[in-house]
Amino acid sequence: MAGINVMSQEHIEVIVSGKALKARPGLTLTHALWEAGRAGEVQTGCDGGVCGACTVSIQLKGDSKTLIDLACQRQVEDGMTVFPYPAPTIPAVAPNREISPESIRAAFPTLDRCTKCGACSMVCPMDIPVMDSVTRMRSGAFEEAAEDFTSCIHCGQCRVVCEDRVKPHNMGMWVRRSLGMAQNWERLAGSAVNSPDESWDLLLDCDEETRLARCREFRKTGRVES
Ligand code: SF4
Ligand code: SF4
Ligand code: FES
Repeated sequence: MAGINVMSQEHIEVIVSGKALKARPGLTLTHALWEAGRAGEVQTGCDGGVCGACTVSIQLKGDSKTLIDLACQRQVEDGMTVFPYPAPTIPAVAPNREISPESIRAAFPTLDRCTKCGACSMVCPMDIPVMDSVTRMRSGAFEEAAEDFTSCIHCGQCRVVCEDRVKPHNMGMWVRRSLGMAQNWERLAGSAVNSPDESWDLLLDCDEETRLARCREFRKTGRVES
């Protein structure tokens, strides 16, 4: 009597980097890879759709279009073909709480290279108006630019497609971090101790449990008591 092939009944087949992967329907690509012991084939960061580490290119069965998506958010489908899409990393640029047209240009001399080709906006899977945001950063509209990048998943595609190497999302993150730093610095300056440096010492120079308690207190009140 012919045996029953349980695998073919309960699993679908996905091709990841040219190699067949048997996966349970309903799993995300990330979890299917984990379950098959192939976790190392696509990077994972947050497993929550935030960090962009797991960006992949996907072709669905019978469709020649290439999609870009996050492996941790995309469910497996029979016959889908998947390749990791790791945008090459570039060194981080430290934020600057003195954010200004000059300081952003010092951090990113690429800012004025934008030729408004629109490729970055077209490729963004989160529909961020990347090109417009670059224009906002050029004109010093930093709050608006920071808002634009709220939903950025750091997939890096806007940087990869930019022939002028403008690095839009790196600039967007720099703006968000710089504004955050400026705001927190003011809150720290108004805390129970005399200077921002002392406040940072108070937050950092203690054991982990105390630091967590002080950070929670700071988030609630904007003050750090010794
Ligand atoms: S892809 Fe580069 S040059 Fe084109 S609009 Fe975006 S940032 Fe500007
Ligand atoms: S890195 Fe660029 S393309 Fe990717 S989500 Fe952020 S803005 Fe969009
Ligand atoms: S692992 Fe962070 S977005 Fe998928």
